[in-house]
Amino acid sequence: MRMDEQLRFEDLAPRLLNWYAGAARELAWRIGPQVRADGAKPDPYRVWLAEIMLQQTTVPHATRYYLAFVQRWPRIEDLAAAEDNDVMAAWAGLGYYARARNLLKCARAVVVLGAWPDTVKSLRDLPGIGPYTAGAVAALAFGRRASAVDGNVERVFARLLAAKDDWKTEKARIKRLVDTLVPADHPAEFAEALMDLGATICTPKRPNCGLCPLNHMCAAQAEPYPARYPIKPKKKIRPTRHGHVYVLFDGQGNVQTQRRPDKGLLGGMLGLPGSDWIEGDRPNPVLPSCANWTQIGDVRHVFSHFSLELNVWHAVGQGDGFWTPHNEAADSLPTVFAKALKLANGAGR
Ligand code: ADE
Repeated sequence: MRMDEQLRFEDLAPRLLNWYAGAARELAWRIGPQVRADGAKPDPYRVWLAEIMLQQTTVPHATRYYLAFVQRWPRIEDLAAAEDNDVMAAWAGLGYYARARNLLKCARAVVVLGAWPDTVKSLRDLPGIGPYTAGAVAALAFGRRASAVDGNVERVFARLLAAKDDWKTEKARIKRLVDTLVPADHPAEFAEALMDLGATICTPKRPNCGLCPLNHMCAAQAEPYPARYPIKPKKKIRPTRHGHVYVLFDGQGNVQTQRRPDKGLLGGMLGLPGSDWIEGDRPNPVLPSCANWTQIGDVRHVFSHFSLELNVWHAVGQGDGFWTPHNEAADSLPTVFAKALKLANGAGR
């Protein structure tokens, strides 16, 4: 750490921990600071599961899924022994489905190992565990002196430093700085406190600097508009893809479904039949000839790299293929298909 930063942030950890002792959020996967102080340790399985779910997902949304998962698969051995399709269906609606495939791979790898690895380096060898998750699990579950630097923590430090340099450079600087600031005696609470500060005070749009325990050492707070940090390169515009989705009901409570290929978008998830999704002009629909199709509207969905507009077609009829009871499909389909199913419901099934 640079000498000037060392001096400036000398009392960051004690101040943050002091604030956290009184302000910690109660979260389903969390052992609060009081319980930790009494010597309790969280189950690494639950820590890891929550961290995977919380990537790209809000706390309220992740909480519902977290509770359902730990009720159904309370231990890592239970998850490792689950059917792939059951886990994919339970993940439906959380998005970024590669996470669910890696979740299973990782659970099975840990069960084969016989125990969780407990260092950042050894955690990194597991499927789906990158630097952030390895740091978070090492600190939160094993009390290792490791940092968990995600976008929220980067925002907090971009402001503390009033980071104006190129964002890639600043991110590397922030990671190095946070690594040096983790207190050896309370790494878990330090990580959790930073998460809570980012979520409740140093928020993206309207930071509440008046309540911040770190405001006296914050460079951005002394400027007119602290929320301008972090200064990131402009995002590329998302292209739009178009396509069709064919919702076929059998008149007896089932809908025609398809399992998607393991590789690629929504890989391994249940899906509905339809066209390819392409940029530019909408492709012509190639409707299965088994029924009388009506076009009933559009659904839109935003993926990380593109937006999607699908024409929804509806019919009641017979056909070859795979049929799924309607309620099960509604629960197991990824959101874009669940939207199409919901729309088609209104047209009769
Ligand atoms: N965001 C990422 N990990 C988190 C955690 N463990 N608690 C709250 N928010 C988080």
